[in-house]
Amino acid sequence: MMKIAATLLATIALATVNALDNGLALTPQMGWSSWNFYACNINESVIMNTAKAMVSNGMADAGYTYVNIDDCWAGGRYPNGTVYADPTNFPNGIKYVADYIHSLGLKIGIYTDAGTETCQKRVGSYGYEANDAQTYAEWGIDYVKEDWCYATLENPQQRYQIMSQALNATGRPMFFSLCDWGYENPWTFGMSVGNSWRTTPDIKDNWDSMLSNLMAQAPITSFSGIGGFNDPDMMMVGNGGMSNTEYVSHFSLWSLLNAPLIAGCDLIDIDQETLSILTASEVIAINQDPLGVQGSLVKSYNGGLQQIWAKPLSNGARAVVLFNTDTNPATIELLWGNIWMEPSQQLSIRNLWTQTNLGTFTESYESDSLIPPHGCIMLTLTPTN
Ligand code: GLA
Repeated sequence: MMKIAATLLATIALATVNALDNGLALTPQMGWSSWNFYACNINESVIMNTAKAMVSNGMADAGYTYVNIDDCWAGGRYPNGTVYADPTNFPNGIKYVADYIHSLGLKIGIYTDAGTETCQKRVGSYGYEANDAQTYAEWGIDYVKEDWCYATLENPQQRYQIMSQALNATGRPMFFSLCDWGYENPWTFGMSVGNSWRTTPDIKDNWDSMLSNLMAQAPITSFSGIGGFNDPDMMMVGNGGMSNTEYVSHFSLWSLLNAPLIAGCDLIDIDQETLSILTASEVIAINQDPLGVQGSLVKSYNGGLQQIWAKPLSNGARAVVLFNTDTNPATIELLWGNIWMEPSQQLSIRNLWTQTNLGTFTESYESDSLIPPHGCIMLTLTPTN
């Protein structure tokens, strides 16, 4: 047990050194991005109406802050190299959109690429990093995602470092989100260069894709911490390709894993069920816990069909997701040894989705109802003394 506690402490210590130190990402970023729902079909009214919706539907109050314009906003470069917005989709330019988003109390993100072109063949930042960083700062940008298309011969650590330094040199704090899809183990260098780094290929709006991106996190949980987070990609919650049971699992696990909570659905016409998933306050609180330690896979049963993921919290409690990936309902037994606790420890258990207290337990807990196929139970377990 002492060994388990020591491993936990070592993980916490490792995660807090070597941070980029731009003062950002004290907790995982929360917001929305245009890509998963709109892809290239964006324009200024989509972005501005989404920002407005994020305030009026309660998501801003729940913690969502960044409104991120993904690929397809860039129009080209002037002869002096300065980038400009697509004049058809963003006729008033990006600063106009930024000013509006700021007037709502939100922050704006933008997208670029470390190569010569973006994935949708708009201009990339290769060789123009200082110029682009300066332009973003002048527009009032708060967040930059840098993709990796048309950059394949470059070393990502070195290339991303150029934009990282250019952003810092502007004096404007800009969250820096790396996106090399996990190709070059960005978790090994991401903390010193950026505030989050994609760890996987693009998520698709289906169960297998979500599960595959999730499982890719299991071996790398220790690389994330305050200042920089593993990013298994933006969320698909609300886009219709999974059931709400599956979206609840997706959201629970992204929260527990300190993943960026970047919504990727239509916020202008959002349904109530999707909104209640995205604004589940006790689940979000796990993601935003100030200790900043990513949850990890602590136990698997039946070849991984049932899984326990757990995360230590700043108040000494543990957050746990009991996850049933099977197509049949199941129960899952949680032992205190799975979550770095002595068996004799009394733990008070709360269900974070139903927001109910389940009682006080020692040694172990097994849910009294079956966990549905592809479903989960999310709990906190808090020492009573
Ligand atoms: C890549 C990224 C996606 C998105 C698209 C835009 O595929 O991984 O997140 O930004 O490019 O073209």
